[in-house]
Amino acid sequence: MHAITRLHRSPALIAIGILWILGQMWPPTALAKEPVSFKDDIFPIIQIRCPECHIPGGEGSEKSGLDLRSYEGLMKGTKFGSVVVPGDAFTSNLNVLIEGRASKEIQMPKHMKKLTTCDIDLFRRWVNQGAKNN
Ligand code: HEC
Repeated sequence: MHAITRLHRSPALIAIGILWILGQMWPPTALAKEPVSFKDDIFPIIQIRCPECHIPGGEGSEKSGLDLRSYEGLMKGTKFGSVVVPGDAFTSNLNVLIEGRASKEIQMPKHMKKLTTCDIDLFRRWVNQGAKNN
């Protein structure tokens, strides 16, 4: 009886227990598969961080033609072509620019504070999930 009580309080067992729980949570596949919504997750970020320049008359809109007032505008892209390749965040210009994978000069939002890691991750997952108007 005594031995069992001692075993239960053993720090080693507690450590193993914690490691086991962490193991169950890794890799974080459940999170990666969690559907990302354009309406609830993506558009609110765009509305706060991008319209300043990406509405008609804005600097970004004038230079590139990218109008970020709607899903349709985002998917239409710039006058040079689309910025979102559904299913492929790696090659989508949108992701390249907000992640800062291109030159610092054209990181978006331009010359402003970078999006948070969380926001960047949402954009990546949304594009990889097909960039749907959901
Ligand atoms: C301070 C102004 C400004 C803000 C804010 C801004 N942009 Fe831009 N954006 C520009 C300009 C200007 C261009 C044209 C390219 C250039 O001159 O760098 C551009 C171009 C782009 C392009 C097209 C690049 C290409 O030709 O492939 C994308 C995509 C883009 N912006 C996304 C965004 C997103 C997403 C946000 C918000 C998170 C944002 N921008 C916020 C100014 C801005």
